[in-house]
Amino acid sequence: MAHQELSRNERKVMLTLHGKNAASPEEVLAKGGFSQMVEVMSAASWLKSKGLLDIHEKIETSYQLDKEGREYAGRGELPEFTVLKAIGHAGKKEVSELHAGEMSREQVQIALGWMKRKGWASILKEGGKSLASITDDGKKRLEEGALTEELQILKAVGSAGEGGLSESDAKKISAHALALLLTRKGILKVRERYVRTLSLTDAGVELAASGISVGEEITQLSPEMIQSGKWKDAEFRPYDVHTFAPAMHGGKAHVLREAIARIRDIFLHMGFTEIRGDYIESCFWNMDVLFIPQDHPARDAQDTFYMKGAGSAELPAALAEAVRRMHETGGDTGSEGWKYKWSEAEARKKLLRTHTTVNTIRYLSEHPDPPCKVFSVGKVFRREAIDNKHLPEFHQIEGIVMEEGASFRMLIGLIKEFYSRMGFPEVRFRPSYFPYTEPSLEVEVRFNNKWMELGGAGIFRPEVTAPFGIKHPVLAWGLGLERLVMKRYAISDMRQMYLGDLEWMKKTAIL
Ligand code: PHE
Repeated sequence: MAHQELSRNERKVMLTLHGKNAASPEEVLAKGGFSQMVEVMSAASWLKSKGLLDIHEKIETSYQLDKEGREYAGRGELPEFTVLKAIGHAGKKEVSELHAGEMSREQVQIALGWMKRKGWASILKEGGKSLASITDDGKKRLEEGALTEELQILKAVGSAGEGGLSESDAKKISAHALALLLTRKGILKVRERYVRTLSLTDAGVELAASGISVGEEITQLSPEMIQSGKWKDAEFRPYDVHTFAPAMHGGKAHVLREAIARIRDIFLHMGFTEIRGDYIESCFWNMDVLFIPQDHPARDAQDTFYMKGAGSAELPAALAEAVRRMHETGGDTGSEGWKYKWSEAEARKKLLRTHTTVNTIRYLSEHPDPPCKVFSVGKVFRREAIDNKHLPEFHQIEGIVMEEGASFRMLIGLIKEFYSRMGFPEVRFRPSYFPYTEPSLEVEVRFNNKWMELGGAGIFRPEVTAPFGIKHPVLAWGLGLERLVMKRYAISDMRQMYLGDLEWMKKTAIL
């Protein structure tokens, strides 16, 4: 093979290896004048494919001290020696009386097990009592002291520094003692890593011997080179998609941020305005104005985080009175209301908002005249047990349309449009129930052949809109964000999104 067919980096690798049996990639990196490992490995894999170089890979095992191992190495004895000492030259001791130093009953039992296994002691039954009795080997051990081969290994590991003690060094002390230590829990941490060595093949050696030089190499063709015709004599670096290359992860937003930005974009393009609200709200705004009866199950402490010591909310008097009438009698809407005694004290309680419908109803109270198209994406709080699909904090995608002639079909069309712009073209609706809407819908989207429930929607009932003097239909929806994002990115555990796991975030693709 003519050396022109080798790239500059390949020639550099060959020159570095020439005259050596083998070298580690790290050595080639340092001695060959490379700046990055990927250059070395990319060139090496090219040379390998040309039959000029071999890449040997082996797994190297090393050991570090685990918790117990550190303790024993520090104390200078293994627990079985501690117990051996506790029995001492007396030669026998009742097992129940053995509490060597700080050792627990269980640790003493384990130590006794090892003493038996090593032939240092045996257990005798005498008059219903268990006695630990030291054997001749045990006595010998007592004389010789605590420094068994196992302890020698532990000490060597302890002073081996960060890389740990290699398997071969540990075996030099005693392969048998090492094997014994490895059967015990919490003593040694085992680390395995790939070690690569590079060496020239016979063909490689031959080529290197025939003389290799490192000349200029072109990685990018320029207009000047084409115009001047220089390209004809130039050496070009070949391109190979199979060579080593580092994964590149550009800066990017967190998946939730990314999704929220997208949602915002979609609604803004559809002519909506974004609204925001506070996390801390009153029962009045979060529930009462939405015609949720005060004894509704969703209100009880199962679902709602009530705020202790946050004081009691001020209520707008006229509105509170209208809401009271609505709950008690249905006011002038033709409804019968809930027929119970509405409590102002209950309505004044403060809570962490349980849904962002509180944002839209507050907005409506200030903008009762049409048209109105607003949305929000915000956090809500519910007392949920945490698992892979539930968190006590999550986001809702909320919105309303209020205008003359707003209809059920518009609501369905809007939600379908939104999801299809999010990349979920299949949407279906099921009848549902919310105290504040009629009709009420459950929204489901299909992904990977599965339907998943994503939220609710409906048209606000007159009992909700009448106290504000709203005269036109209000289409409303409140949809889940996290589940949608989980499907999109194939995330199986919702908590993953809140761990701040940078590695994971880097690798997770954007929508
Ligand atoms: N607020 C409801 C929820 O939290 C969703 C919803 C919003 C339903 C608006 C109907 C209308 O589940």
